[in-house]
Amino acid sequence: MSSAPEDRIRLIDTDAVPAHIAVIMDGNGRWARQRNLPRIAGHRAGIQSVREILEASVELGVGALTLYAFSTENWKRPPSEVRALMELLREYLDREIDNLDRNDIRFETLGDSSALGPVIRSELEHAVERTADNGGLRFNVALNYSGRDELLRAVNAILTQAKDDPRLLEGVTEEHISRHLYTAGLADPDLLIRTSGEWRVSNFLLWQIAYSEIWVTDTLWPDFRRPHLYDAIIAYQKRERRYGGLTPALAR
Ligand code: IPE
Ligand code: IPE
Ligand code: MG
Repeated sequence: MSSAPEDRIRLIDTDAVPAHIAVIMDGNGRWARQRNLPRIAGHRAGIQSVREILEASVELGVGALTLYAFSTENWKRPPSEVRALMELLREYLDREIDNLDRNDIRFETLGDSSALGPVIRSELEHAVERTADNGGLRFNVALNYSGRDELLRAVNAILTQAKDDPRLLEGVTEEHISRHLYTAGLADPDLLIRTSGEWRVSNFLLWQIAYSEIWVTDTLWPDFRRPHLYDAIIAYQKRERRYGGLTPALAR
């Protein structure tokens, strides 16, 4: 493409921007290793990508942005890395909460935050409460998140409800399940982006991505900035979403 990367925004059809974008932010460790830096330097660099992608999403009129920040499996990492990640999250919230609120962004978390430390938990709760009435972009951060665990919780919550409402035992619907997920009330992602060239879902939004368009890029998360988001959206806009049906051209 001949135009400067930032100019590619002009190739985006502003009437067909994905309403919900989900991102598996991956490759921070490799970004650091390439520079002979400790892994945490990659996580720190990734924060700037979060800022840019959030800002660009607001500008483009994306309705919801969901970032995978920490999976239930990420506890397997060395305690020093886990601690550093939690500390970065705290720093991020401290620095950005005013800015999020000012931009009418509604901040929420997906996942089991009860396992996070008390300090971080209360900061998260504060950020969620403070932005609860904001009507702009919905900014969801998946923390201690697992798609399978989310589904199990939904099933178990429905079983508990069934004790009072035995009609549920006659059959559970998709709506019942959706209503009990962390994403209750949010539309499913239209576009799922994974950075760092890994073709895996890694337990992210298993239910919700049933018909998401997937974009995998080799770019490592700390290098993933505005132009990369534009490219993902441009590619998304060229896709035909068929949902198992036929487009008019194929039906002929
Ligand atoms: C993604 O980067 C951030 C988290 C999972 C917290 P990684 O830390 O997984 O980076 P790589 O995959 O080792 O390069
Ligand atoms: C997925 O990345 C989780 C997050 C981005 C938070 P990982 O780096 O943990 O995933 P795997 O281990 O490569 O599947
Ligand atoms: Mg990784």
